[in-house]
Amino acid sequence: MRGWGVVPALDWSDAGQMAGPTLNDGVVRLRQWEIADARWYAVTAAHDDLIQRFATESPTLTAEQVRAAIVELANTADSAGFVICDADSGERLGNIGLRHAGGVGLASYWLAASARGRGAATRALRLLSDWAFECLALDELQLWTHAENSASRRVAERAGFVRCPALDQRRQVKAGVWDTVAYRLPAPTDRSGLSSGCQSTAHIVVP
Ligand SMILES: CC(C)(COP(=O)(O)OP(=O)(O)OC[C@H]1O[C@@H](n2cnc3c(N)ncnc32)[C@H](O)[C@@H]1OP(=O)(O)O)[C@@H](O)C(=O)NCCC(=O)NCCS
Repeated sequence: MRGWGVVPALDWSDAGQMAGPTLNDGVVRLRQWEIADARWYAVTAAHDDLIQRFATESPTLTAEQVRAAIVELANTADSAGFVICDADSGERLGNIGLRHAGGVGLASYWLAASARGRGAATRALRLLSDWAFECLALDELQLWTHAENSASRRVAERAGFVRCPALDQRRQVKAGVWDTVAYRLPAPTDRSGLSSGCQSTAHIVVP
């Protein structure tokens, strides 16, 4: 079994052409970030009103910064990130990733505006969750959203996360203070039904 923690370190020359494995439910596919995705990520994250309102992405994010993040995260054992793609066309739809420590992972995600409203984020979160429980052997996933972020709250609920008010916080995010609500998803007691195949991965920017 190979998980994120045993992926060999990559350098710049590797990072431009990472043909790593993917997670796929037949509708969306999660694949590794590549250097060639950096401009798309930066333009999408920095200029989308909803991402700027509800995600921690900087409004001044540049492709150069994303390139550096791709390389850095490829060498970071406690983070993973994927491009959410259309399973058929390969079109980029969004970003999903997690950071983990002590058996607990913190998930986050966003979709490009054109990809919203068809359940892609829910599918991606389910794929990520199954992979994290099976291949990283995490005990629990958590996520938090702005309290007013109804779409993200529905995504969390549809992916099986449950509200955890004890973890709610006021957070300093960018130029403001956000009231955030927390969700958690414990690992299934029987992980044998998960079918990620423990494909190795690496990378990127977790908003
Ligand atoms: C959160 C996000 C990924 C959800 O995208 P999505 O998968 O397209 O979600 P949908 O549009 O299918 O909506 C999911 C659910 O929320 C509901 N919803 C969507 N927008 C809503 C709104 N403004 N108010 C209330 N409910 C809303 C949908 O009806 C759907 O509910 P349903 O399952 O009962 O039909 C997307 O909105 C996004 O990228 N937002 C900006 C970044 C962000 O918020 N990231 C999360 C940070 S925690």
